[in-house]
Amino acid sequence: MDNIFPEHSRFMGRGARETLLGQRAKVIWLYGLSGSGKSTLATALERKLHAEGRLTALLDGDVLRTGLNSGLGFSDDDRRENIRRAAEVARLFLNSGVVTIASFITPSRSLRNLARQIVGADDFLEIYVDASFEACAKRDRKGLYAKANEGKIPQFTGRDSKFEPPDQADLVIETEKETPEESLNKLCSFVAPRIKPGADD
Ligand code: ADX
Repeated sequence: MDNIFPEHSRFMGRGARETLLGQRAKVIWLYGLSGSGKSTLATALERKLHAEGRLTALLDGDVLRTGLNSGLGFSDDDRRENIRRAAEVARLFLNSGVVTIASFITPSRSLRNLARQIVGADDFLEIYVDASFEACAKRDRKGLYAKANEGKIPQFTGRDSKFEPPDQADLVIETEKETPEESLNKLCSFVAPRIKPGADD
């Protein structure tokens, strides 16, 4: 980029912020179909971490799409821009020492790779929230699957637009098989040691 000079060396480092906060920052990236339980898990995880004294931030697809990413739709290009911006914001939080929870469908391997590359592989925890299209359609908390079935939602993920199962995931949460408590405990047990002060030392 011409004429742009990000003087990173002059900025205060992430380590100083992490020391101040008494935690290690990570980006916990939850992905899976709409209705798989990502947002529910993300909010429950955030509350639990907050209660344990962690400073957290939550980035959620539906929320970002009403603000920063309003104007983006569900074409491949728009989803890519949605994920690119979300990952860039996650990186800013990460560098501020904040434990950052992201909840986006992130339907393709290339989008997950993009997010990991932007955040940095060492700090990116890729967590697949696994529930089948049929199970999500049965739950249909937002009524989107019924609408999509009537042809009222173009490019609906899993129906008109592909969802690629993971080739690599650091953790798989199976919300169809586990109780919500089991899923949350599994997620917390995975995250807790990675955000402890000194975790990467
Ligand atoms: S992503 O594919 O770009 O990662 P994101 O997580 O931001 O998606 O947004 C998904 C949310 O948008 C869904 O939970 C749902 O509420 C809403 N939505 C609206 N239209 C669609 C669609 N065509 N496909 C999937 N989700 C949609």
